[in-house]
Amino acid sequence: MSSKLIIALDYPTAEQALHFVKNLSPECCKLKVGFELFVAAGPDFVKRLVDQGYDVFLDLKFHDIPNTVASACRSAANLGVWMMNVHASGSDKMMAAAKQALLQIDSPAKLIAVTVLTSMDKEQLALSNVTLAPEEQVKSLAQLTQKSGLDGVVCSAQEAKMLRETLGKDFLLVTPGIRPQGADIGDQSRVMTPAAASKAGVSYIVVGRPITQSANPLDVIDQINIDMS
Ligand code: C5P
Repeated sequence: MSSKLIIALDYPTAEQALHFVKNLSPECCKLKVGFELFVAAGPDFVKRLVDQGYDVFLDLKFHDIPNTVASACRSAANLGVWMMNVHASGSDKMMAAAKQALLQIDSPAKLIAVTVLTSMDKEQLALSNVTLAPEEQVKSLAQLTQKSGLDGVVCSAQEAKMLRETLGKDFLLVTPGIRPQGADIGDQSRVMTPAAASKAGVSYIVVGRPITQSANPLDVIDQINIDMS
């Protein structure tokens, strides 16, 4: 069965990331490449992971006018990535244009949206004249994402149950802020274990430091895959 674990490759260089990846296999996990590594290592690095057989989530959170985002998604798809994301606040038109661009490609990549950044609280939303409570804004943008034809959203595990009930069983919920039992919380605040996230209905979990900084990453990965099955 395909792993529901996406490992966040939050490394500053391709060398460090590849040193970590060489002990993994595409059967045990998927890989996420975000801003830090993409800016440092570039598209060739992403292609290299794809050529090794990995499902790669390119986490670049595109946010621009519809034509520009659609073109960026097309370029990302040409790298062979499995999944990519945009900001839902870029509008239904932007999301639909991005999805249409991907649908023109054979075996299109999955497209998900970020709703409200988890670093934003009620006060910060109010500064942008968003007066809804953060969880209501998350729900509203997730519904807009679904109406725009996207495959899912990035969400916190705390929002997963509500979003699963609202958006149905096939909508992807991709969830960071996951900590195995006993792991260091680090700078995350509201965390959930892999088993609890699975029970809450998440489709995939994103885990970084509890694996990348572990003395025995393969043991942590095995345990997470068991907890999520
Ligand atoms: O090391 P850790 O498990 O906290 O890494 C979580 C990953 O998920 C990081 O790459 C982080 O940027 C990303 N992320 C997050 N919270 C969000 C969105 C993305 O932690 N709301």
